[in-house]
Amino acid sequence: MEKEKFYITTPIYYPSDKLHIGHSYCTVATDTMARYKRLRGFDVMFLTGTDEHGQKIERIATAQGKEPKEYIDNVVVGIKELWKTLNISYDKFIRTTDDYHVKAIQKIFTQLYQQGDIYKSSYEGWYCTPCESFFTEHQLVNGKCPDCGRDVELVKEESYFFRLSKYQDRILKHMEENAEFLQPNTRMNEMINNFLKPGLEDLAVSRTSFKWGIPVEFDPGHIVYVWIDALSNYITALGYGSDDDSLFQKYWPADIHVVGKEIVRFHSIIWPAMLMALNIPLPKQIFGHGWLVINGGKMSKSVGNVVDPNVLVEKYGVDAIRYFLLREIAFGQDGNFNNEALIQRINSDLANDLGNLVSRTVGMIDKYFGGKLPEARTQTPFDADLEEMALGTAQKVEAAMEKMFFSDALIEIWNLIRRTNKYIDETQPWILCKDDEKKGELADALYHVAESIRIISILIQPFIPNTPGRIWAQYNIDSSLVEWDMAKEWGLLPIELKIEKGETLFPRIDIKKELAELEAAIKASQSTAVANQTKEEPKEEKKEAPKQHDEPEYPAEISIDDFCKVQLKVGEVISSAAVEGSKKLLRSIIKIGDEERVIFSGIKPWYSPEEMVGKKVVVAYNLKPRKMMGELSYGMILCADDGNGNLSLLTTEKKDFPSGSEIS
Ligand code: MSP
Repeated sequence: MEKEKFYITTPIYYPSDKLHIGHSYCTVATDTMARYKRLRGFDVMFLTGTDEHGQKIERIATAQGKEPKEYIDNVVVGIKELWKTLNISYDKFIRTTDDYHVKAIQKIFTQLYQQGDIYKSSYEGWYCTPCESFFTEHQLVNGKCPDCGRDVELVKEESYFFRLSKYQDRILKHMEENAEFLQPNTRMNEMINNFLKPGLEDLAVSRTSFKWGIPVEFDPGHIVYVWIDALSNYITALGYGSDDDSLFQKYWPADIHVVGKEIVRFHSIIWPAMLMALNIPLPKQIFGHGWLVINGGKMSKSVGNVVDPNVLVEKYGVDAIRYFLLREIAFGQDGNFNNEALIQRINSDLANDLGNLVSRTVGMIDKYFGGKLPEARTQTPFDADLEEMALGTAQKVEAAMEKMFFSDALIEIWNLIRRTNKYIDETQPWILCKDDEKKGELADALYHVAESIRIISILIQPFIPNTPGRIWAQYNIDSSLVEWDMAKEWGLLPIELKIEKGETLFPRIDIKKELAELEAAIKASQSTAVANQTKEEPKEEKKEAPKQHDEPEYPAEISIDDFCKVQLKVGEVISSAAVEGSKKLLRSIIKIGDEERVIFSGIKPWYSPEEMVGKKVVVAYNLKPRKMMGELSYGMILCADDGNGNLSLLTTEKKDFPSGSEIS
């Protein structure tokens, strides 16, 4: 029988930066799904790759004195290495500079032009020549360039436009009729209410002001807009627009495009419109996952080693990193990455729960039965419960995986792991072994635990693919006993199986020592970053003009850019408590959108903890966390100060305004 097809993709990555653990998050999740579907018997096509055109890449390459392609080739080697390190089982890697892709894009653009979906017009906006940037009227500051403050001129750049507006109603209808099309649901509501209902405008899809891109075939002075180029990778990788489109015929439509939340709009509006114009069926689902953040802030290179996936894998092993990413964060929501949480997960879930279960069982079979799996004869009173749970876990994992709820799937598996450990404590093999009459029960208990471990080893395969093989090696489990559906059968392990102690699966980590080392490493990498920055951009020493005697003291003016660096958000106080030993401090838990943060503020003289609860406050969101009373405080609650010793909390004028709203 022909296997059912499953086509899944990651976004294609910009080779503009060193990839951090946030980038790996998306790829690990997609890989887990691909592995899961293969285990379920699907014919899987898993696509990833790199998005190599655009002004950004051109500038980075130029800054390094290289041709763009020369610069990218080097970066792509590193990306492929990283995917190997993380055990990413992709079937195809596309580069948008690949010849077949370039040709197909030119063909697509020409076709859309010929059929009238692309037309030539001009882009009108304000141009700042020194900055080479366009701005709309309302982006200007006092009629001048918001970046450098210089004069701007009104210019028109000739551009091709895609008739995005023409597809607005069809896309809206598609979303309304297909609840599964965009997940999680909140993302669908956002697209409908913020973009589709207010109305789409036609999209400028060519540029003439730089060179690094795919030239429009019939008008080579124009470069194809990078998103048109990038989104099409999902079909060009399958041979669409080439002489051989058999893979396209076989795998399209995609089952899932996995993408980060900030690029959902491109995937759920522009991409469907392009496909509609090309008369190609739409992907079945777009899943917009959340971000991995560090203490509430977006990840960047500057946090150094802590987020370098290569360093993390080298330190803790690939499966520990994969497990953490998939277990710690509910897919779809933002989640915090921090080393303490990572080490705690390794110690508790991997070393204690799973590692210990595997090693203590091998140890007991070795000690009591000379390393041979005994036959389950007499029953123990705890067998039925364990069997029932073990046999029911696969289905629960399947239900979670259908919704891409990796974390829930792992919770189910770990419930079984913990139940199996509990079974050992209930049956007490170390007591049974003392009584010859209990030998049957002892054999039965150890057989049960080994069988449960076999089932667990099947279920963990998609998530932590290196670990099952290490378990099978110790238990001599034949590959014929670990197919997915065999997790739904009991009693498959043959008796007399030779069981041998192997290396510890996950060594425990000394958390205090490790955190101290990490902190030192971060400090070192940050001071290197600062040193590098100073080296690269020597700063001119600023000489301040001497103040005139009568000049009033105004605070220094800042540019709009400086102001925009401060991110302010609406938060809701969930709970608040006075801090022991402090006259002024309250420790509050603030909900900001999907996340919750601890923030200390010196407002006790003006607000009691009870009064605080439920209040909407304004939070300085991207403030560097600060240690207060021995704990980190993630941000600041803003207050007005009348200069006479009175403080008043800032809030939104509309009382029911949602937490997480940006203040701009
Ligand atoms: N090139 C575009 C995608 C084109 S797809 C047709 C792009 N590239 S990217 O390299 O900037 O991002 C690739 C993916 O990594 C995105 O889905 C993005 O959301 C994800 N992530 C980047 N940083 C992330 C976190 N800190 N956390 C989670 N995912 C993050 O966008």
